[in-house]
Amino acid sequence: MPTVDLTAGPAGELNFADPVFQTNPWPLYDWHREHQPVSYVPALESYFVVGYDLVRRVVTSPDFTVYHPFRTSRRAFGPSMLDQEGSAHTRARAATAGVLRPRKVAAFARDIIAPLAAAMLDDLLADARPDLADRLATALPMRVVCRFMGLPDGDAEWLHEAMRPLVEYVDHAPVPLAAVVQRRRELAAYFRSRIAAGTDDGGILAVLAADEVLTEADVVNNAILLLAAGTETTAAAISNLFARLAADPALYAGVAADPTLIPAVVAETLRHEPPLHVTLRFAAADVELAGVPIPRATPVQVCLAAANRDPAIYPDPHRFDHTRRDRPSLAFGAGRHVCLGMGLAQTELEVVLEALVERVAEVHPLGPVPPVRGRGFRAASGLRLDCRPRSRR
Ligand code: HEM
Repeated sequence: MPTVDLTAGPAGELNFADPVFQTNPWPLYDWHREHQPVSYVPALESYFVVGYDLVRRVVTSPDFTVYHPFRTSRRAFGPSMLDQEGSAHTRARAATAGVLRPRKVAAFARDIIAPLAAAMLDDLLADARPDLADRLATALPMRVVCRFMGLPDGDAEWLHEAMRPLVEYVDHAPVPLAAVVQRRRELAAYFRSRIAAGTDDGGILAVLAADEVLTEADVVNNAILLLAAGTETTAAAISNLFARLAADPALYAGVAADPTLIPAVVAETLRHEPPLHVTLRFAAADVELAGVPIPRATPVQVCLAAANRDPAIYPDPHRFDHTRRDRPSLAFGAGRHVCLGMGLAQTELEVVLEALVERVAEVHPLGPVPPVRGRGFRAASGLRLDCRPRSRR
């Protein structure tokens, strides 16, 4: 155990459950980056790491592993590539990666995501729904993931509901483990029946099921992971994108006048407000990080969000600035577990913004823009908007 006090912070101990922290964690991240970039948090029984270079080192180094038999995500989804190393990880990742190659994602965006986003936005705008951002954020990622996995559109709503206890459990909400286990059983049975039906539609489920090495349990667990990983983060990112645009009418006007800015605005939104602030590693052996000894198997909370606002990498880091040419953010992690759906997620956000600027001349918040908040998945839920339609181009 370290000899210096690694837990003293400006507001006492780091507490992820504190509502103040959940709404504005940035001052605490800044304090830790400056004073204790590696600290021990007794309440979490974990180390906490901030700072771009340290975060990058932890997620890319073999000294830290994603594997732990009792980690929360493993309980919820079963063993999946997210918490596996070595050949099990490589095999599941390689099988999935084929479907997520840039050319496939581009075709998928054109043929599937763009028409889906357009149809949903048209419906929401026709009904003048002020909760358009929440509705789109909830519905679109699940529909996109269903198509990507080769699941019927009609199952999207049930899948969204069935995933709730699993996602909430991973997000540390007080969900009984029994409810998680029950839902997981139902989801596993669903996927087994889809596999048995034997569709060959090029969707990821069929591709995984056709793999000669992956077992049925591997396919089912990774399918459940993909369902969660592909929807919650993307939904939060869509919500955060809308909140940024609502808070900054000049930004919206700029993008609407010049849609070539869209990729930069999406990338800066993900740097500035990443939907997932923290990811988890475990020391693979007794290791030392920035002079702090970390005993084997101890959890390490790796703060991607604090890395994204490290002033050593991003000058004036709290300012939203889509003209930055700094290093890519760590919103999707890095190294062997870097987000597999990174290209799909970025493309989905870009397509949403393209569809919005095509249809809407101005967006105005109705009331205050809600803060981005949460523990694991962080979103600006509850945003209400007045969208002024434009005459179609
Ligand atoms: C804005 C949206 C998204 C964000 C911010 C995000 C973020 C992340 C991060 C930070 C990780 C790395 C976790 C770690 O290293 O411990 C990750 C892993 C992963 N993500 Fe995403 N993700 C997003 C969307 C997606 C989508 C759309 C998919 C798939 C359809 C996806 C699938 C995965 C998978 C399978 C992994 C595990 C990869 C591995 O362990 O090898 N994600 N994601």
